[in-house]
Amino acid sequence: MKDRLIIFDTTMRDGEQSPGASMTREEKVRIARQLERMRVDVIEAGFPASSNGDFEAVRAVAGVVKDSTVAGLCRANDRDISRGVEALKGAKSWRIHTFIATSPLHMEKKLRMTPEQVLEDARAAVRFARRHCPDIEFSPEDASRSEPDFLCRVLEAVIAEGATTINIPDTVGYAVPQQFGEFIRSLRERVPNSGKAVWSVHCHNDLGMAVANSLAAVVIGGARQIECTVNGLGERAGNTSLEEIVMSVRTRSDFFPVETRIDTTQIVPASRLVSQITGFVVQPNKAVVGANAFAHASGIHQDGVIKARQTYEIMRAEDVGWAANKIVLGKLSGRNAFKQRLKELGVELESEEAYNKAFQGFKDLADKKAEIFDEDLQALVSEGRVGSSDEHWKLVHMSQGSGMGERPHASVVLSESGAEKTAQSEGDGPVDATFKAIENVARSEAELLLYSVNAVTHGTESQGEVTVRLARGGRIVNGVGADTDIVVASAKAYIAALNKLHSKTERINPQV
Ligand code: KIV
Ligand code: ZN
Repeated sequence: MKDRLIIFDTTMRDGEQSPGASMTREEKVRIARQLERMRVDVIEAGFPASSNGDFEAVRAVAGVVKDSTVAGLCRANDRDISRGVEALKGAKSWRIHTFIATSPLHMEKKLRMTPEQVLEDARAAVRFARRHCPDIEFSPEDASRSEPDFLCRVLEAVIAEGATTINIPDTVGYAVPQQFGEFIRSLRERVPNSGKAVWSVHCHNDLGMAVANSLAAVVIGGARQIECTVNGLGERAGNTSLEEIVMSVRTRSDFFPVETRIDTTQIVPASRLVSQITGFVVQPNKAVVGANAFAHASGIHQDGVIKARQTYEIMRAEDVGWAANKIVLGKLSGRNAFKQRLKELGVELESEEAYNKAFQGFKDLADKKAEIFDEDLQALVSEGRVGSSDEHWKLVHMSQGSGMGERPHASVVLSESGAEKTAQSEGDGPVDATFKAIENVARSEAELLLYSVNAVTHGTESQGEVTVRLARGGRIVNGVGADTDIVVASAKAYIAALNKLHSKTERINPQV
């Protein structure tokens, strides 16, 4: 029997700290259901003390998830931990994850605390948390740059107070595999009560070594939990990628002394969902979930794969959920079939009104596109937020024209809290003209940081899925829109981003 490797997903906490990746309560619930379906062991749903919105999101996730433990991040103080307890206590199984920085640099420059004060706060936080919850994880932030003797003192103290998981973060992605693995092993050897806790790692990908460092911590260091995110989403260069860890351990089961309980066929659906909700597009050559991960472009490879698949394939596409695109619904499908398929995809909308609106969107799409795939439904629901009653801006109508030798022009009708406003503009292209026309109404003064278009499925009749990233006053938001007309998709994405900028949802970063 192999040891179990606990998969701790932090897509909705660390992943959400990526610029513009913030998620609504409803989006977090959708992602949580998919993570649960994938059989993730622990789902870190957010940072409840950051805002009322995230508190409610964590509470909602705690209320729906039954087969995974739900965790919330709390800084090492009573207020954060009390908020965490409040948000999580409705869950069937829940965990408080508390942390404080232990490196000389972070203690002195960020926290302005002495090591003794940090040790005392860490101890007190775990003691306080343990009064409310038996499952406590402690993380010494920036552990890989912490002084080992001090780190050992802190870890011994928090285990003595009842921490059940010790998570060692490589916060800035500084570690290298062999050294990091040995670092974990030496901590486990030196901390006298180390056997009372599960050892975990949390690696960032600044040097592209997050997955390698995490796996070295398992093989060399004896870690039995890895913290990771879907698509490797996370601050800066991201976190350890969940799909790469899970498929490495499975594909090289001859080498790794551990196994996970993940249903790998749910990996690609999870990747699609996270990408659609956050607007973070997956690069085509990304391992496991990239569009090219199983495409054999070169003639030699194709020939080899046809003769014997194993010549160039070490994993099977279907094992990670790359089913051939399945036509699920069409023009004649009724509301019940539509609702049933959404349910099978793990999508539960908040009200009958939301179903009606989504169904109308589906009918409109089916008029333009004969075959509707699961990906179309996911995109429809993701961008279904545009035009919902609580949005400040709604797209009522738009048209645009362009042609050779003609200056592109666009006209839009937006509704602002019920009042319709119209504007026109010319631009360097139809999308540029449309964005300028929208700005002539909205006057947001936001800076466009990113514009990207992706095909939702294949073929020219596919919906285009557009991501727009806007920045204003230090805040960064992503908007996503999908449509068979990519200029309309672009307008929807721009308006979704404007609505996010307009919403007052302010989150604080737990680590700043
Ligand atoms: O990177 C980090 O150090 C973290 C901790 C809060 C676990 O995200
Ligand atoms: Zn992190």
